[in-house]
Amino acid sequence: MALILGIESSCDETAAAVVRDGRDVLSSVIASQIAVHAPLGGVVPELAAREHLKALNPCVEAALRESGVSMRGIDAVAVTQGPGLIPALLVGLNYAKGLALGHGKPLIGANHFMAHIYGAFLDGEDHLLREKATYPLLALVVSGGHTSLVLVDENGDARQLGSTIDDAAGEALDKGAKLLGLGYPGGPAIQKAAAAGKPDAYHFPRPLTGAAGKPVAPELRYSFSFSGIKTALLHHVEKFADKAGALDENCLADTAASYQFAVVDTLVRKTLLAAKDSGARTVVLAGGVACNKLLRAELAARLPKSLRLQIAPPKYCTDNAAMVGGVGYCHYRKKEFSPFDIDSFARLPKFVRVPFADKIS
Ligand code: KG4
Ligand code: ZN
Repeated sequence: MALILGIESSCDETAAAVVRDGRDVLSSVIASQIAVHAPLGGVVPELAAREHLKALNPCVEAALRESGVSMRGIDAVAVTQGPGLIPALLVGLNYAKGLALGHGKPLIGANHFMAHIYGAFLDGEDHLLREKATYPLLALVVSGGHTSLVLVDENGDARQLGSTIDDAAGEALDKGAKLLGLGYPGGPAIQKAAAAGKPDAYHFPRPLTGAAGKPVAPELRYSFSFSGIKTALLHHVEKFADKAGALDENCLADTAASYQFAVVDTLVRKTLLAAKDSGARTVVLAGGVACNKLLRAELAARLPKSLRLQIAPPKYCTDNAAMVGGVGYCHYRKKEFSPFDIDSFARLPKFVRVPFADKIS
């Protein structure tokens, strides 16, 4: 049995968790900074770092307390090394180094992107990662920082089929909500406003899908682009807004619903295409935007029933440390420990393997 303490500080959530054997989440504590960043309409990295500094120790203490495990019982400290905001990452990474060093525990630098995928297999679903029938596995990781399709084969070899060439889907929702005066974070705000609207009331583009009859270049077949959709929203608001720049109640609800549907439809179209082309047997939906109810429902409805759909539970979609403890366990199992001089990184490095899938016999 192995108990991993996971620590997360890549963006605006400070989190700590204790995870047993990459499966059982004994505790998962999250201190959100939304209230700090909301008045500014987005995450300010230096402010985030300052908040992490305040929240980290209480979070770790609460995670240990709730799990009933002391630092003595912890087998390794796993911490998000990147990708993310450097000032924010540095706080968690240095805290984890000090904690691990002070208690004589191994340190594991975890990849936040991989951790998001692992989040779909927590709470007892991790056995699927060791079953041949799960592969090829296609993961759509969709968050404030990422929109990527990753294909993993049964040996754990991974290939990024495509990602966004400009904004991430979460960014499009966050910026869209700001334009509509709906507040931060934008994804949940748009979802809420959309509930009273019609998704087909207005048309917003589905970039790089060929939906508008424009052929898609082969190298962009699995790529995303969300900056045009945002510009379309800007023009839409200019067209329909009153003198004060606001949309009336019905128009706002219809706009939110149509905009949300355009983002979701684009994500689903690309995922279906990649799943078909690659012969994937499992599709994983992960990352903060995977909380979106319409995205979850559309993917479930439109994906062929012969494929397994593995959607992370909402509590493991947005940033959390349980997913870090989970992916940390995969490294622990293989004794892949990090030296104490590792640095944080901002961007997703080129990868050819994932930590969670191994040679399956
Ligand atoms: O994974 P995450 O917590 O942080 C990053 O790693 O980026 O994702 C945050 C993103 C934000 O863009 C937020 O607006 C979006 O996830 N999000 C949602 C929903 N909840 C969070 N987007 C759509 N619908 C939601 N219900
Ligand atoms: Zn994230």
